[in-house]
Amino acid sequence: MPCWRRLCAAVLLLAATAAAHTAAHAAAPIKPHIADATVKAGRERLSLDRGWLFHLGDVRQAPIVGHEESYSNAKAGNAPGAAGAEFDDSDWRRLDLPHDWAVEGPFDPKANISQGYRPRGIGWYRRYLQVDPADRGRHFELQFDAIATHATVYVNGNVVNRNWSGYNASNIDITPYLTYGDALNTISIRVDAEAMEGWWYEGAGMYRHAWLVKRAPVHVATDGVYAVPRPDKSGKGKEWSLPVEVTLNNSGKKASDVTVEVTVFDPAGKQVGRQLAKASVGVLKDATVKLPFRINDPALWSIARTNLYKVVTRVLENGKAQDEVALHTGFRTIRFDAQQGFFLNGEHLKLQGVCIHQDHAGVGVAIPDSVWEYRLRRLKELGVNAIRFSHNAPAAEVLDMVDRMGFVVMDENRNFNPSPDYMKQLEWMVRRDRHHPGIILWSVFNEEPVQGSEVGYEMVRRMAAAVKSLDDTRPVTAAMNGGFFSDLNVAHAVDVVGANYQVPDYDRFHKAYPTVPFTSSEDTSAFMTRGVFKTDKDKNQIASYDDLADAAQWGNTHRDAWEAIAKRPFVAGGFVWTGFDYRGEPTPNEWPSVSSVFGIMDLNGFPKNAYYIHQAQWIKDRPLIHIAPHWNWAGSEGKDIRLMVMANVERIELRLNGKQLGEQKADPFRMNYFNVAYAPGKLEAIGYNGGKEVVRTAVETTGEPVALELIPDRQDLAGDGRDAMPITVRALDAQGRAVPLADPVVTFKVTGGGRSIGHGNGDPTSHEDEKGATRRLFNGLAQLIVQTSFDAMQPVTVEASAPGLKAATLTIPVKAVAAVPFVASADAPLTFVRTWRVAPPGDTRPNPNQKIDSFDMNTWGWGQPPMWGAAGSKFNLYRSSFTPRKNLADGNGLIRFAGIKGRAEVWINGKLVGKKDSFAAAPLDLELPAGTGKREISVIVEAEPGQGGAQGSGITGNVTIEPKK
Ligand code: GAL
Repeated sequence: MPCWRRLCAAVLLLAATAAAHTAAHAAAPIKPHIADATVKAGRERLSLDRGWLFHLGDVRQAPIVGHEESYSNAKAGNAPGAAGAEFDDSDWRRLDLPHDWAVEGPFDPKANISQGYRPRGIGWYRRYLQVDPADRGRHFELQFDAIATHATVYVNGNVVNRNWSGYNASNIDITPYLTYGDALNTISIRVDAEAMEGWWYEGAGMYRHAWLVKRAPVHVATDGVYAVPRPDKSGKGKEWSLPVEVTLNNSGKKASDVTVEVTVFDPAGKQVGRQLAKASVGVLKDATVKLPFRINDPALWSIARTNLYKVVTRVLENGKAQDEVALHTGFRTIRFDAQQGFFLNGEHLKLQGVCIHQDHAGVGVAIPDSVWEYRLRRLKELGVNAIRFSHNAPAAEVLDMVDRMGFVVMDENRNFNPSPDYMKQLEWMVRRDRHHPGIILWSVFNEEPVQGSEVGYEMVRRMAAAVKSLDDTRPVTAAMNGGFFSDLNVAHAVDVVGANYQVPDYDRFHKAYPTVPFTSSEDTSAFMTRGVFKTDKDKNQIASYDDLADAAQWGNTHRDAWEAIAKRPFVAGGFVWTGFDYRGEPTPNEWPSVSSVFGIMDLNGFPKNAYYIHQAQWIKDRPLIHIAPHWNWAGSEGKDIRLMVMANVERIELRLNGKQLGEQKADPFRMNYFNVAYAPGKLEAIGYNGGKEVVRTAVETTGEPVALELIPDRQDLAGDGRDAMPITVRALDAQGRAVPLADPVVTFKVTGGGRSIGHGNGDPTSHEDEKGATRRLFNGLAQLIVQTSFDAMQPVTVEASAPGLKAATLTIPVKAVAAVPFVASADAPLTFVRTWRVAPPGDTRPNPNQKIDSFDMNTWGWGQPPMWGAAGSKFNLYRSSFTPRKNLADGNGLIRFAGIKGRAEVWINGKLVGKKDSFAAAPLDLELPAGTGKREISVIVEAEPGQGGAQGSGITGNVTIEPKK
């Protein structure tokens, strides 16, 4: 090997070790190794929601043709174009998560009806990340809670993950790819939302939260704490076991002996157990420890009393805490009985459930946590005790709320497939969710055509076994819409059979499977447009009387479905399709209808008539009464109006303008109908129990609208840049009564510490821009959602105006709260010139413009700053290329060397652009010649005579292309 080759190898070796150790300036001595002992302990979970750059559409790259380009393209870190570390994204839109780009766009009658006629397409996100050198050695994980739909994630030009489901998280160890200090790290994500997993609106993009989790080298793995309580075997005693299992991971450079400490706190915060276990975790290995707790007489979790226990896991090394993670769990028993249905803590509980998709007015699938809280609160008010998250696992925050608010849940897997890629999706769900006391069923599928066959049976058998190996405390179910009666079918492979619709087969099923527990997993599918009481086919509007004609052929009316379920003790309960309207599936209509009408509530969470039907059926602890429709029937004086009164009392009396119209025994399943000749005024319904009035309601004829009203959902907002609040918009008459059919176009203005993130009105045919400044009221209502800004701590002021109406102003106080810890967005007006070719060193000045043959990948070496000159040689020549960002085309740019030791010449595209005359280590700024396109840069560095030893000369820090200040 010629001498220069050896020298060159030395350069590379030094460059490689030095590259793992940021030295912005030349003087710092190179440490050959970073000891793990210096690594920071502790865990930080930082929000990565802020500061993304977004591009709608694909970013196409010119085909690669040359040899050198082909060679480079195949190398780690060299993903091309928008996937790469360096890319001009200066004109991309800046936004914060959660983000759904599909809901921002216009509707298109040619787009997919199931996706709500919303084009989805492809989009790119990029974000920069600066990592403190003090964090070197820690474990860095990117966590994307879900991205719709196919996401390819790159870090510094390396593909780090592919996730082909829009409903599960990507947890990605990015530690090996990081650079520390000034050189920014680039996260780049290509999202293909052409891919579909559903037949409903699925949104597009990074619609859930993103996190950066920094942990010590020895740490608790993500979703690595299993803590699911079990009652004692007899089921009678009060002692429970809580077998905790902790999975550790070691990304460090030395094996570690650690102690795992798990502490359990009761709902009042009192410590009720603490255990220690030793673990040895090998280098880049996992280890699992088991800590069997016994908890005596715990406070049980139930729908009414959501007692949650906190399990805190710490990892200690030499007595020092290295990691800490907490989760909540709950003590409760569940049992599905083939004869009597479901029991929670030994008490019978009929499942009064709804199926829901993740979709809300104005925001699409990018639902802020606080809007989820609003939605769940609406379900509580409706009397719901069970939720089926159809047909996918919800966001983790939603399950936390479910536990706190008191619902039982069917957690559902999206893709039915036991092959390894898909099994990972199922296992992810169980591993993430198994500690939630609210979850009572794992559902492996929804309505699969193979359900009645051996194939379906074999597939489910495998998936059920995978679930059981992670959590054997809940039954596995599948939502079948048939196939129960074949010789071998999915009903033979699950613990609880779920039936979607199939009401005529309920009894037949029970006869054929007398020992198999059974629930409706989906029922109803009745159509109703909020506020509409007369079906108008031309307008795609459907009346709200819950008539048979307004239920899907395969479904039932709200009343029929519940009656079938309620009257059969062996049916554990029902899950109404659906709790809320959602985009897509505008069944039985098509364009111009863009969203569904199955909901008990509309897309905003405004009640339809079905809401009052179910309230009357489901709520037992207080008397309720409701009259439908409104009492504004000008022009119909003297004509009969069909009234529906929904009440959970014994008798109902009706009065119009004080005059008794009649009395009926309340029917808890069918509800009550009256025909009343219309006369304007006040129509009252009075509910009696035991002959005594217990509840009363009224509808009144209103005047024309004269003013707008804004009703906030809550008293105030948290100033954390995340909290969002739905605001109800109504029109009032001169006496301050809400006008039920008002439909003015309202213009919104939001100022102060927040902004509008969207609005809706529940009209399934509305094509209004959900993010624009205006929204028409539909049957008297609209909803505006405001969210606080990250940095403004002033009240949010909302103004609503409409022609001819008195405007409304609402000021919502913003209270100071600690922001969720977040990663500051790193702006990147810079281009880093990262990868260089290094010429063989020599003692004579090299020709800076000498050609490297495009097929020669070896004569010149490779390096990344800092790059020290070869020991003992006088001249070193470095070459790279870069493409300046567009904003530097007019000569506004600099080439900035953070440090050069030695004299230097810098050449760009064959022309000398500047020199450094001193030998001393110093930064160098040079003007970037104006123009666009790729540039070739060559740098000659000359070592000071006698100083040419190791670190005697070189490019000693980052090289960046940046705007002049
Ligand atoms: C079911 C299906 C649901 C929805 C519903 C509409 O078959 O599971 O996702 O499509 O029909 O009725």
